[in-house]
Amino acid sequence: MDHIGGGRLPGGVNLQRRVRCWECHRVVEDPYLDACPSCNGLLEVSLDLEPVKEMAPSDLRSRPFGVWRYTPFLPVDPSMAVSLQEGGTPLYACGGIAADIGVRALSVKYEGANPTGSFKDRGMTVGITRAREIGADMVGCASTGNTSASLAAYAAKAGIGCLVLLPEGKVALGKLAQAIFYGAKVVSVEGNFDDALRTIREMAEQRILYLLNSINPFRPEGQKSVLLEIMDQLDYRLPDRIVLPVGNAGNISAVHKALKELVEVGWIDGMPMLTGVQASGSRPLVDSFQAGRRGFTPEPGPETVATAIRIGNPVSGRKALDAIYSTGGAAVDVSDEEILDAQLMLGRREGVGVEPASAASVAGLRKLIDEGVADRDEEVVCICTGNALKDPETMMSQCVRPYSARPEVSAVMEAIR
Ligand code: F0G
Repeated sequence: MDHIGGGRLPGGVNLQRRVRCWECHRVVEDPYLDACPSCNGLLEVSLDLEPVKEMAPSDLRSRPFGVWRYTPFLPVDPSMAVSLQEGGTPLYACGGIAADIGVRALSVKYEGANPTGSFKDRGMTVGITRAREIGADMVGCASTGNTSASLAAYAAKAGIGCLVLLPEGKVALGKLAQAIFYGAKVVSVEGNFDDALRTIREMAEQRILYLLNSINPFRPEGQKSVLLEIMDQLDYRLPDRIVLPVGNAGNISAVHKALKELVEVGWIDGMPMLTGVQASGSRPLVDSFQAGRRGFTPEPGPETVATAIRIGNPVSGRKALDAIYSTGGAAVDVSDEEILDAQLMLGRREGVGVEPASAASVAGLRKLIDEGVADRDEEVVCICTGNALKDPETMMSQCVRPYSARPEVSAVMEAIR
């Protein structure tokens, strides 16, 4: 992977990093801690971006399109990268849906095109590289499915053991199959994602494994790349709004961090309105947003067809609310019916196959337009986080069964009439 090395670029490799508490700014050295030992706050990597200020976006364009193009913004040594060539996903112009829902311009960042079919690969390539740096021999996560599929694949690539905890009976088939297929130890736990995360965090505290949920501050560092790619694809023209589904709230926080860093280095001079979408059956952050609060109250029994975001106690919820308030964005919830409608619309109108949680972004935009919260004159990017094939059962439930016929033209014509 020598193409991602520092080369002649100043700041080509960014190892001037510190892990700090997001709340009290204390520096935390122990890689096995996932919260501040003083105030229990969330952790974050802070980078020295001084050398990057000498650079321009065009300095990175000769590198392959994908996560590792952006090494000046990554806190790991690229010579140790564990990569499946993640990122570099398409940004589709979706004029048909834009016209249908009545917004000037809509693009979809299609994260289903990642190696394991979701945006998680962006954070995982960096997270597992960090695991290799610190010499971890066992990694683990709790997951609604995609994180486990991604971690299992990257752990396999790195030759590191992997344990995943999944909420029993609530993980889409494709994701479950992936985690098992890539060789992770898979345990279904009684309870929901929040219960599984609490358990695996205890295991990490006991040093049984290195935790690679998005609460690990190295994960969001890789996830920043989705924003960096969008800006590259738009030639650094800022969209008015970026809409994304919110589960554990790592992704929206990562996108916000990327925006702050681009402002710091002077590559952009404003921010799009970050807009988070939750399912109506699991909407703790929407409740807070509507009440104008910076904290949130966990939802005890989250429920939604979009199992990826079936989360009642989003670990990075406070960061997500900060991202939304400080960019003038919004939080909105959508019903299962609205999610499934949007999923079908993406498939039938644009040929874009996304899983239900991903369709929540488009459903949320549609609702904000209808309610007059989002302006019809906006240019919007929706991040569609995962591939439709992740959840074949939900996809099939939306469709008629295939017709059957004898292998003769007349019989086929008869069947489709
Ligand atoms: N979309 C998909 C397809 C997801 O899998 C997730 C999260 C999200 C959106 C929400 O992202 O948590 O960063 O706010 N899935 C996690 C998992 C929780 O375990 O795979 P978030």
